[in-house]
Amino acid sequence: MNRIAVVGTGYVGLVSGSCLSDFGLNVICVDKDEEKIESLKRGVIPIFEPGLEPIVERNVYYKRLEFTTDLRQAVESCDVIFIAVGTPPADDGSADLTYVEQVARDIARYMNGYKVIVNKSTVPIGTGKKVKEWINEELAKRGASFEFDVVSNPEFLREGSAVHDFTHPDRVVIGTDSERALEVMKQVYRVLYLNETPFVETNIETAEMIKYASNAFLAMKVTFINEVANLCEHVGANVQDVARAMGMDGRIGPKFLHPGPGYGGSCFPKDTRAFAEMARKFGVTLSLVEQTVEANERQKLLAAQKIERVLGDLSGKQLAVLGLAFKPNTDDMREAPSITILNELAQKGATFKVYDPTAHREAKWRLKNIEDRIIYCQNEYETMEGSDALVIITEWNQFRSLDLNRVKELLRQPYFFDLRNIYKKKDMESRGFKYFGMGQ
Ligand code: UDX
Repeated sequence: MNRIAVVGTGYVGLVSGSCLSDFGLNVICVDKDEEKIESLKRGVIPIFEPGLEPIVERNVYYKRLEFTTDLRQAVESCDVIFIAVGTPPADDGSADLTYVEQVARDIARYMNGYKVIVNKSTVPIGTGKKVKEWINEELAKRGASFEFDVVSNPEFLREGSAVHDFTHPDRVVIGTDSERALEVMKQVYRVLYLNETPFVETNIETAEMIKYASNAFLAMKVTFINEVANLCEHVGANVQDVARAMGMDGRIGPKFLHPGPGYGGSCFPKDTRAFAEMARKFGVTLSLVEQTVEANERQKLLAAQKIERVLGDLSGKQLAVLGLAFKPNTDDMREAPSITILNELAQKGATFKVYDPTAHREAKWRLKNIEDRIIYCQNEYETMEGSDALVIITEWNQFRSLDLNRVKELLRQPYFFDLRNIYKKKDMESRGFKYFGMGQ
């Protein structure tokens, strides 16, 4: 095998390209954003992802990993081309395939021999077929006939642990109708084959479906426990024990049963909406997925309403907010519950002192509309000075071991809203806090 090209140096492309080079393969990452490519060449990583930087550094040093804006040269010199460009939501929630189409057509324009074109972007079911059609159309325009195969190879990377997820996947899904392409993919993932990672070999449509069905199921699981937590609060049950006992049932499993202020991020919100929308186009209703989307919106609002219910009139009240990113170990605020919660509370008159270990830069533009109500602090304790309540929105590890005596001294009132259940109600109440968790 020659080199591998990865087109798109966003989250998925950069992690995949870097980790593949760390498997000992020669990889060239392509992006049309010149500034980004220039800084990557200098070793500056545009995203916050633990463990990624040393991998990029190491493989750039050994010249296994390169960055370029020259798609032509990348296509000509590589046998395997990953498409990992963005598929932002269109107005109706479906995935916009403009960038995927552009790249597919460009690949066809520069093709000079057999290529395996691998789709890593999350794309509507049927896109693999379309990619084939686009390439065939362009080849026909050129009057050229090269052999090629299309593969769907969805990613299951979680932000914050993407490097681990890429190198230790639960499974690798390879969708293709070509034995030849399958053999090439086995070469690409040779390291994982040797590690006895399970491989699911299937057709393109099934691979595309696996990605959406997995994400929708996980989103549904989180939403389910969120709703159970809401009910727990009314009947005196403790959701943590409920979730723990449920999780002991091997058919259910313990993961993704942590209640919170709703899921966010770049995948679940976008993929659940796109999945439901896609099904509708075929006349099929994914009612559980549709309900999940709605319930998650409600969940974000409920968190804000709970705070308002307890504190009463919010005008003139200052809230200490810990965590803004949609989850820990990332600076990503896409669809973060914090955006809805802060906006909702701001409307009711609250002001905020906030701290997140990494997300301030993104928060400053995502929360621009209420910037006059927000003070960004240097650490946890600064947020609490003169605040009427503490709200933990994101469960960064460093918030799990707060100096609670100091917290109590700093807060004007000992109201403690723990939207991620990282503290125990009983302990907190015995320390004199007015504690509100989720479903405790
Ligand atoms: C997800 C999928 O896990 C990954 O496989 C896919 O490729 C991309 O989408 P990611 O968005 O990085 O990954 O985050 P994840 O860790 O899955 O969490 C998603 C959201 O659910 C977060 O907002 C998180 O806070 C929330 N969540 C997760 C809960 O509220 N409770 C849980 O028990 C688990």
